[in-house]
Amino acid sequence: MTPSLTIAIDGPAASGKGTIARQVALRYGLRHLDTGLLYRAVASLCAEEGIALEDAVAAGERATRLVPSDLEREGLRSAAAGRGASVVAAHPSVRAALLRWQRDFAEKAPGAVLDGRDIGTVVLPDARAKLFITADPDVRAARRWRELSETRNIAYRDVLRDIEERDARDAARSNAPMRQADDADLLDTTDMTITDAVAEAARLIDGRLNR
Ligand code: DC
Repeated sequence: MTPSLTIAIDGPAASGKGTIARQVALRYGLRHLDTGLLYRAVASLCAEEGIALEDAVAAGERATRLVPSDLEREGLRSAAAGRGASVVAAHPSVRAALLRWQRDFAEKAPGAVLDGRDIGTVVLPDARAKLFITADPDVRAARRWRELSETRNIAYRDVLRDIEERDARDAARSNAPMRQADDADLLDTTDMTITDAVAEAARLIDGRLNR
């Protein structure tokens, strides 16, 4: 069997990693999984079913019963779902339940691009190419604010605070914290347009694949 081609793309909220991951998947003919959606779906199901986000046992059990259609639930892209996701994502029980799902997705031919926080370090340590995408917090907050203000009235300072809190929680947790893998290329998109960032990501990945 030909091994699947896997590409890991990690980084903090609103770094551009989702857009880059989608474009990279198209370029290499791979499937794409936004792994943040898994954590967002678990948080949203817990909220709906009266499970406290802090309840590691119940949230972990709920995560074992996630089905693909749960990723299409309404409201998963909201700031509230992102906050909830960051809380349930700190539970080892939730991470363990979602690990198998992510690996199964990646292993199916022809392979996949996964974006998240721990893809290069934990989920796919043997990925053929790894990127860690970042940008200054105020630039990321401005991007997210523009996106969110298309559908509702939201203050920039609330978006910035939300991003800073989420970054801190995602980087500080003891289980699979957000971190650049030792063998990942760093891409700082602070001063880049998304078109430039995608082009630079492709250049870095081509360099890895041609080694
Ligand atoms: O990428 P995102 O904003 O949709 O992710 C939402 C939250 O999910 C994020 O704050 C932390 C968590 N997450 C994680 O812990 N590990 C991943 N691989 C992806 C997301």
